[in-house]
Amino acid sequence: MEVIFCLVLIRHFATLPPLPGRAMTYTTLLLDLQDGIATITINRPEKLNALNAAVIEELGLAAERVASDPAVKGSILIGAGPKAFVAGADISELVGQTPIEGQRRSMKGQQVFRRWERCGKPVIAAVNGFALGGGCELALACHLRIASESARFGQPEVKLGIGPGYGGTVRLPRLIGKGRALEMLLTGRTIRAEEALQIGLVNKVVPEAELLSTATEVLKQILANGPLAVSACLELVETGLDLSVDEAFRQEAHLFGLLSATTDMGEGMAAFLEKRAANFTGQ
Ligand code: COA
Repeated sequence: MEVIFCLVLIRHFATLPPLPGRAMTYTTLLLDLQDGIATITINRPEKLNALNAAVIEELGLAAERVASDPAVKGSILIGAGPKAFVAGADISELVGQTPIEGQRRSMKGQQVFRRWERCGKPVIAAVNGFALGGGCELALACHLRIASESARFGQPEVKLGIGPGYGGTVRLPRLIGKGRALEMLLTGRTIRAEEALQIGLVNKVVPEAELLSTATEVLKQILANGPLAVSACLELVETGLDLSVDEAFRQEAHLFGLLSATTDMGEGMAAFLEKRAANFTGQ
């Protein structure tokens, strides 16, 4: 267990060989890297950014890049155009799928979304409009969700005679509770941003014009903290929720101890005592 934690911590600073996605040109995504923040725009506005196989594939490559590139410290996912974050899986690709194709599609999407969730760096969904089906599930796989006032969330799959395939039945009840999740999943009802805030589906609702700047501001606030400590929090919460309370406590104590060996802990505490801002180096 300790070895895994060490690897997670070391990964931030490893100089890695070129990896898939590092230098590639995407056809369905835009990737902008500034000040350590990779902003990834899902770019099929004419189809409300629906997740076809190409988007899923490229989202997987982008997640790999975010996880592996030391120049990327955190990430924001957003949809292109004024109407949608992502309006779901591309229905035109689902029509006529065989059971095996459906299962493979689901497993591929689950694996890609999981890569985002477990990339070891903070990921914020900036939800600008419809986040339906796979779009809601993609937002759920992110660590935080910031919504514009026009955002709409839903799991409408049952209206199409199918269920969620990219983690909705798994993550939604964990985030908002079983009763509320089942209401959304069974009715397929679309909810507005303020209801999403009220039930804890999103962290913040802001005017549309402030969406990206707010997401960037929140991410910068996170990135100003000790990166090893941030990474440890992500690891502990993402794995801890699936452990028994006692196992999760043990895991927390291990990392609490391990972080004591970092230069950053010394710096963070010295900065507090000296009443100055900390200068974290990620060591
Ligand atoms: N898959 C494929 N195409 C989609 C899509 C999806 N999930 N969602 C929207 N589109 C396409 C539409 O077919 C349309 O394409 P066209 O112009 O070539 O006909 C385009 O995006 C614009 O969508 P449209 O339905 O005209 O916009 P609207 O404002 O009238 O309605 C929605 C917006 C989101 C309410 C509606 O598009 C919708 O219900 N989408 C499906 C949501 C869904 O069920 N998602 C889960 C899928 S498992």
